[in-house]
Amino acid sequence: MSRSAHPAGPRHADVLPEGHYSGPPADLNTLDPKVWAQTVTRTPDGVVSVGGIDVKALAEEFGTPAYFIDEADFRARARAWRTAFGQDADVFYAGKAFLSRAIVRWLHEEGLNLDVCSGGELTTALSAGMPADRIAFHGNNKSEEEIRRAVEAGVGRIVLDSFQEIVRVAHIAQSLGTRQRVQIRVTVGVEAHTHEFIATAHEDQKFGIPLAGGQAAEAVRRALKLDGLELIGIHSHIGSQIFDTSGFEVAAHRVVGLLKEVRDEHGVELPEIDLGGGLGIAYTSDDDPREPHEIAKALTEIVNRECDAAQLRAPRISVEPGRAIVGPTAFTLYEVGTIKPLDGLRTYVSVDGGMSDNIRTALYDAEYSVALVSRTSDAEPMLARVVGKHCESGDIVVRDAFLPADLAPGDLIAVPATGAYCRSMASNYNHVLRPPVVAVNDGEARVIVRRETEEDLLRLDVG
Ligand code: LLP
Repeated sequence: MSRSAHPAGPRHADVLPEGHYSGPPADLNTLDPKVWAQTVTRTPDGVVSVGGIDVKALAEEFGTPAYFIDEADFRARARAWRTAFGQDADVFYAGKAFLSRAIVRWLHEEGLNLDVCSGGELTTALSAGMPADRIAFHGNNKSEEEIRRAVEAGVGRIVLDSFQEIVRVAHIAQSLGTRQRVQIRVTVGVEAHTHEFIATAHEDQKFGIPLAGGQAAEAVRRALKLDGLELIGIHSHIGSQIFDTSGFEVAAHRVVGLLKEVRDEHGVELPEIDLGGGLGIAYTSDDDPREPHEIAKALTEIVNRECDAAQLRAPRISVEPGRAIVGPTAFTLYEVGTIKPLDGLRTYVSVDGGMSDNIRTALYDAEYSVALVSRTSDAEPMLARVVGKHCESGDIVVRDAFLPADLAPGDLIAVPATGAYCRSMASNYNHVLRPPVVAVNDGEARVIVRRETEEDLLRLDVG
């Protein structure tokens, strides 16, 4: 890393202030396939294309900012996850990463299941034809109404997150004359190496029932006694944007430990374990994610080994990747607006979106890449900060990145790997309209979530 805090001087790469970057790349026109969706390429005239359509044509037709999702890439990643685990496991796509009815249909067609965590996600899933028995319902504070709808719909499993919920779900299922299949979500006490807000297996947090102090064993005891519940397994989700499988190893070890306790105490072998989601993706060229088949192999081996040691029949495994499927498949296209060079520091490049379409940089200090996509440039690299149009100085999309020094208003730039947790966490801050999501495939582009309009804003404002 070459870094220095230089008070004055040229605004390009020979003087670098403090930041999260590792020097300018050798060639700003090259797109690293690690961070871009599979069909993204630079056409001979220098314009970037996805699914066979160039971004100038896409911007012309759909406007900016907009998210473009590479359908072929999404389907390929979904399929890779399903086939990596084969018949031995179930893959539940985590809808919170990004959900729309087209996504539900793609998942259904590719043979995946779906994890939802709110009434809204459940409605979207059901309305697009996902069979209820392939849906898992999550959440640390599901309302009675949400639970009732999930049970009535016949969801394949509800993941119980607290002692209160064990009773609540049992009661609702019984009142509806049914037995609900459930898993119990436990916290295994693993510190995942990720941002605090997206780590979820340590004990000091809101999700799940701790294994520690016998609490999870007590939850199992209670669930097994209730007629409205069919306890099918244990669930653990250790966090998000994780590259290292050692956390999953510890989690599997501890969950299998609980299965053994349950077998010893109740004579019951719970048939399933869910290891959650959380596998990391490449946001920049420095990230090195693992392939689904490597992860599947590692997780299956860990569970089988632990079960052999505990003399348990290996349970059926399920996983819940969200980001790892949808994250890399989309990019956000922006038009460059004002440009503010600060000598010796960096150049602020304002785009027509910002923290309302990507809150992750402000919220988690997330790192992103960016490229000029409407043309190539031979200009020298300029240290840039890509910022939005919101009334807030923390409105940063890409904290530190290199763009060509001849960047000009009207150029199109794109931020890759924005498929997960960008549109799904988008807001209307400053009454900025949320961008559309456009699916591109084989020379065709179609809107799957339309751009918000000012009429949409006014329709909610009934005062
Ligand atoms: N399963 C459960 C129970 C979860 O809570 C989550 C994510 C997932 C699966 C999917 O995790 P993934 O594979 O997508 O990492 N907004 C944050 C991420 C929050 C994740 C919440 N739960 C972000 O933008 O990084």
